[in-house]
Amino acid sequence: MQSRALSTEEGKDPANTSRTNQSRVLPLRLLQIFGLFLALCVAFSVISVYMIKRFGVSTTLTSPQSSFQPCYEEVGGLDRWIKPPSTLLHTMNDTELLWRASFAPKVKKYPFQRVPKVAFMFLTKGPLPLGPLWERFLKGHEGLYSIYIHSTPSFQANFPASSVFYRRQIPSKVAEWGRMSMCDAERRLLANALLDISNERFVLLSESCIPLYNFTLIYHYIMKSKYSFMGAFDDPGPYGRGRYNGNMKPEVSISQWRKGAQWFEVNRKLAVNIVEDTTFYKKFEEFCKPACYVDEHYFPTMLTIQSGHLIANRSITWVDWSRGGAHPATFGKADITEEFLHRVVSNHKCLYNNQPSSTCFLFARKFAPSTLEPLLQLAHKHLGF
Ligand SMILES: *[C@@H]1O[C@H](CO)[C@@H](O)[C@H](O)[C@H]1NC(C)=O
Ligand SMILES: *[C@@H]1O[C@H](CO)[C@@H](O)[C@H](O)[C@H]1NC(C)=O
Ligand SMILES: *[C@@H]1O[C@H](CO)[C@@H](O)[C@H](O)[C@H]1NC(C)=O
Repeated sequence: MQSRALSTEEGKDPANTSRTNQSRVLPLRLLQIFGLFLALCVAFSVISVYMIKRFGVSTTLTSPQSSFQPCYEEVGGLDRWIKPPSTLLHTMNDTELLWRASFAPKVKKYPFQRVPKVAFMFLTKGPLPLGPLWERFLKGHEGLYSIYIHSTPSFQANFPASSVFYRRQIPSKVAEWGRMSMCDAERRLLANALLDISNERFVLLSESCIPLYNFTLIYHYIMKSKYSFMGAFDDPGPYGRGRYNGNMKPEVSISQWRKGAQWFEVNRKLAVNIVEDTTFYKKFEEFCKPACYVDEHYFPTMLTIQSGHLIANRSITWVDWSRGGAHPATFGKADITEEFLHRVVSNHKCLYNNQPSSTCFLFARKFAPSTLEPLLQLAHKHLGF
């Protein structure tokens, strides 16, 4: 290649014959160097075409978010399948996200050391006023949990880099109570959390929720449960069966219709069931509109039909309905006393793995921002963290 380049160049320059030997040697050297350079260029372009081809192929094999990751991570090991995404701010739309999140391995045994994590998924309007309580609860348990936050899209989070909530916001949309957009937000949280293969149990929380025990107890209670804690009951009254629409047949019959509080805990299998669903989604979207509050019926009914034997039919999030009315009680600063916390934590009866238990609720709502101070003071003695 080098010699061909040289001869071409020489042929182009017949007028130079009259030059001295000295001056002929110099351009010749230059030409040689130029030829070498040309050869290198060709070699480089061959290599880069090969690289583009190779990395172009691996990018389509992985998820779209891998285009954010630098090329040097893309060596053919197992790592790229089991590493959580490096950023939660991917560019997938909901269709793409749900599709990606529905991937599940067929081989049940993981070929690597997998430490199962609890995904705490916060469905919020904006700030997390009780954040410092959660920070204390989670401290020292890194590697056993992940955090995801779905907030109003306009909300700008400014958690410090040291916070467990730092950069844990997922791409969000407006969610309205009682409407399908609320279920969409919950599915979005589940889908984002599913992208981390270590997440095994998924807990939905709001900004007014608090944990009722130390992390160790909550982690083991959830991990060792045979059932997922999805509240689901058959309410014969106007706010239960009264909201059923006959057009949902044959997918949903009235005897399968369930009601349950929105605040659930599901395992990985049920989380995949929820994000992959299109059958029930269509029916609920069309035939459960206010006064049918879809976030109280869609997941409880769907999971009862598909996997009834895998759900505990009760929630692990305590809420106080004793004051009556359409909404549960919200607690303020003055409510937070030792007696109150004692009442919230004890005096319950339920089944845990088919055995009677008095530990029934792991979380509680609804706590106003003003409760933070007294809760931080009493948490150590009464909540164990
Ligand atoms: C997401 O993008 C795909 C491809 O452009 C499109 O077919 C799909 O309808 C989009 N989904 C949503 C919810 O916008
Ligand atoms: C967590 O709480 C349980 C029950 O209150 C207690 O037995 C256990 O020692 C606590 N664990 C830690 C690590 O504090
Ligand atoms: C929950 O309810 C379903 C029927 O709706 C039942 O099959 C299942 O056994 C119940 N779960 C438990 C833990 O009792």
